[in-house]
Amino acid sequence: MRNTAMKPVRSLESKLNLPANVHIFANSQDVAGAVSNRIFSQIKRKPASVLGLATGETPRPIYAAMRAAYHRQDASFSHVTTFNLDEYAGLSNDHPDSFAAYMRRELFAHTDFQAERINLLKGDAENLHMEAGAYENAIKAAGGIDLQLLGIGLNGHIGFNEPGSTADSRTRTVRLSEATLTANLPSMTALSAVPSQAITMGIASILEAKEILIIAIGSRKARACLRALQGQQDLSCPASLLATHANVTWLLDEDASEFLDR
Ligand code: F6R
Repeated sequence: MRNTAMKPVRSLESKLNLPANVHIFANSQDVAGAVSNRIFSQIKRKPASVLGLATGETPRPIYAAMRAAYHRQDASFSHVTTFNLDEYAGLSNDHPDSFAAYMRRELFAHTDFQAERINLLKGDAENLHMEAGAYENAIKAAGGIDLQLLGIGLNGHIGFNEPGSTADSRTRTVRLSEATLTANLPSMTALSAVPSQAITMGIASILEAKEILIIAIGSRKARACLRALQGQQDLSCPASLLATHANVTWLLDEDASEFLDR
């Protein structure tokens, strides 16, 4: 496995909602390199790892690094189990705007992840409540998530846990905020409006992961990072609740860290 260790330019240890580790990198490529290296080391140590995966803009270079490692034969994902965080309500896994389709395009179709170990929420399930319960059970049956990847919304959301989501929330149907609908519109390929509801793993479901990596890229994420890391720990910024987890690492580029105390 090629080891292109991406060194953070700075790590923050004080004035944080501890116990978080916060590493700031020179650019988004170095963040992606550090995250993908962590994934590769996890899989090397435990080939049958359970990964929690996110969609959106932030993980694209990470998934590109995973595809590249697979093609170089530096990594195999054939024993890995995955659980994605969320899905738009009403969209089937075949819909081009579904997160399932995104995952196929970005990662699954180009690597050796095995279909029977890929877990995706079904946005078009007849009964989303039952779908949510079955997903929680599947995570438990897989032995829990070893390594959870998260992005952060402009409003501090994690998964689709919008502000106001409680720390004990589980996988469930949620209504998306105006901020999220607006932020996600540009990524729609076939729809002219973002579905107003989604199904998402809850905050409690996320906090049960053994280890969490949360990634933020770009100055538009700077305010959410400031609130999550140096503001009040409360429901108005769901990512601030990560401070209650013992093994969370934040990986930011310089722009996303611009408001954090140096
Ligand atoms: C995606 C997800 C969201 C995103 C967040 C950031 O599965 O759960 O919480 O991680 O909205 O999205 P990007 O990376 O597009 O800025």
